[in-house]
Amino acid sequence: MSDFLSALFPAEKNIPPQFNVGPYLEQREYLINGKLRTWAGTVNPVSSPVFTNEGGSYKQKVIGSTPLLTKHEALDALNAAVAAYNLGQGEWPTMSVLDRISHVEVFLGKMKEKRAEVVKLLMWEIGKPLKDSEKEFDRTCDYIVDTIKALKELDRSSAKLSEDQGFMAQIRRVPLGVALCMGPFNYPLNETFTTLIPALIMGNTVIFKPAKYGVLLIRPLLEAFRDSFPPGVINIIYGRGRDTVGALMETGKIDVFAFIGTNKGANDLKKLHPKPHRLKSILGLDAKNPGIVLADADLDNAVSECVLGSLSFNGQRCTALKILFVHKSLADVFLRKFMSEISKLKLGMPWDPGVNITPLPEPGKTDYLNDLVEDAKEKGARVMNENGGARAHSFFYPALLYPVNSYMNVYHEEQFGPIIPVVPFDDPEEAIQYVVNSNFGQQVSIFGNDSKQISRMIDALSNQVGRINLNTQSQRGPDSFPFNGRKDSAEGTLSVADALRVFSIRTLVAAKATDTNKKIIGTIITNRESVFLSTDYIM
Ligand code: G3H
Repeated sequence: MSDFLSALFPAEKNIPPQFNVGPYLEQREYLINGKLRTWAGTVNPVSSPVFTNEGGSYKQKVIGSTPLLTKHEALDALNAAVAAYNLGQGEWPTMSVLDRISHVEVFLGKMKEKRAEVVKLLMWEIGKPLKDSEKEFDRTCDYIVDTIKALKELDRSSAKLSEDQGFMAQIRRVPLGVALCMGPFNYPLNETFTTLIPALIMGNTVIFKPAKYGVLLIRPLLEAFRDSFPPGVINIIYGRGRDTVGALMETGKIDVFAFIGTNKGANDLKKLHPKPHRLKSILGLDAKNPGIVLADADLDNAVSECVLGSLSFNGQRCTALKILFVHKSLADVFLRKFMSEISKLKLGMPWDPGVNITPLPEPGKTDYLNDLVEDAKEKGARVMNENGGARAHSFFYPALLYPVNSYMNVYHEEQFGPIIPVVPFDDPEEAIQYVVNSNFGQQVSIFGNDSKQISRMIDALSNQVGRINLNTQSQRGPDSFPFNGRKDSAEGTLSVADALRVFSIRTLVAAKATDTNKKIIGTIITNRESVFLSTDYIM
C-alpha cells in the first residue's frame, strides 16, 4: 500500500461542496411502457472508486443503490417494446421521420437540463475527470444533433423515385424491430447513446440496460425518456446481466443486439438467441491497439501521442494504445522521455483541476494490474519509472514496462488500465506479425517519417484493423468517421451516418413503369396518401 497514493484520497470535509455527491442516492425507479415503476426488492449498492480518509483509515464511498430487477421485470420491458413495435404496425415504427426527429429533439432539450447531475455522477461512479466527464456529456449531445442532421440528409436523398430498366422505385430505410442496447462502463453515457439514439430515431423500440458501473447517472434522464417518447418505445431496466438480458435473448424476440463490452459477454448472450439469423448484432468489443514507433519517428510527437493514447482516462478506453513497439535504436530516449511525461501527470480526485490519473472503478482491478506487472517482471521486464505499479485502494500508478516479450501475459491481454508495455524491435515485420496474429483488430498507430516505409506498413496493416493512425494516437473520433474492428474487436460499423444504416434495412416500392402504375404512384404522392411512398422533402 503506497502512502503517497492513499494520501490523495480526501477527508469528507475536504471534498469541495460543489462536487460533493450529496445524500445517498437510493434509486428504485425503472422505466417500462412509459411509466416509472418503483422497485420494492433487493438493490445493488453503487460503490465509488473514491475512498475517503476517516482519521487515517480509508473507506470506499458508497454513493447509492440501483434496483436488482429480475427476469420478470426484464420480460415486462420486452413485452412493452414488442407491443410498441407491434410487428412494425405500432405508432413509432410507422411515424414519419420528421415526427420521430421532433421526439428526439424534445429529449435532447430535457437531457441538456441534467448536464450538471450527470457530469457529477460520471465523476463519482467511474472516476472520470471533470473535464472529460463534461466532454462526454457534450459530445453525446453533439452526436444527437449530428444524428438528426444525418437522418434529414438520408431522408432527403430517399425522397425521390429512381428509374432503371423499365422499373420505377422508391427506396427508404425502415426499422428492424426490438433493439436491446447495452453500453460499457468507461463511456456509460456516450457509447450507449451512440447506439440507443440511432436505434430509436430509425423507428425501433428499445430496451436499454445501463453498464455495470456508471448506472446511477442514467437516473436523472429517466423522466426525460418517459416524457419524450410514446409508451413502450424506450424501456430502461437494471440488474445483473445473467438474470435480465439472458432471459430477453432466450425469447427470440430481440431483433437487434447493440452491445459494447467483451467478446466473451457478446458470444454468451448471442448464443442464447434461438433464431440467430433473425438477430442483427452491432458490437464494440475488446482491443489491444499497438503503437509502432519506427526508427525515424519524431520522438517528441510519438511520446506525447503515446502518453495520451495509453493513459487518457487511466488507459480505460477501448481505443487506447495498449502495447508499444519501439525500434531498438530509439528505445532508450523514448523511455526516458516517456518517464519524464509520466512524472508530470497529475494524480488526484476526478474534480481536481488538471487531474490526469484517477482511481479505478472496477473491484479487484489494481490486483489484476499488479499481477500483470509481477508476471512481466518474473519473465524479464523492468518497471522503468519511479513509483510505477505503486497502488493504494483503487489507485494504480502508471507502470512503464520494458522490455516486454511474447511470454508475458501483458503482451496478449487487454489490460484496460495504466500499464504501458514496451516491446523493442529490430525489424518492423515483428510488429506487423503481432497485429496479423492477434485476435484483436481495432486500430494501430504508426509513428514515422519515411513515406516509403509508412506506405509498406499501411498496406500490410490495412487488411488487419479498422483504422490506421499516422503519427496520431488511436481514437474513435471524429464521430463522422467509421468506427469498427475486425476479429474479436467488433461487429458492424458505427459513425453518425453508419449507425442509422445498421439500425435499419432498405425497403422499396417497385413497379413496372407503365402508365397505369405511374398514375397510381402519382396520385399517392400528390394526395400525400402514404408516409413511405412520398417525395416530401424535409427542410
Ligand atoms: O472506449 C472506446 C471509446 O469509443 C473510445 O472513444 O477514442 O474517442 O476515447 P475515444
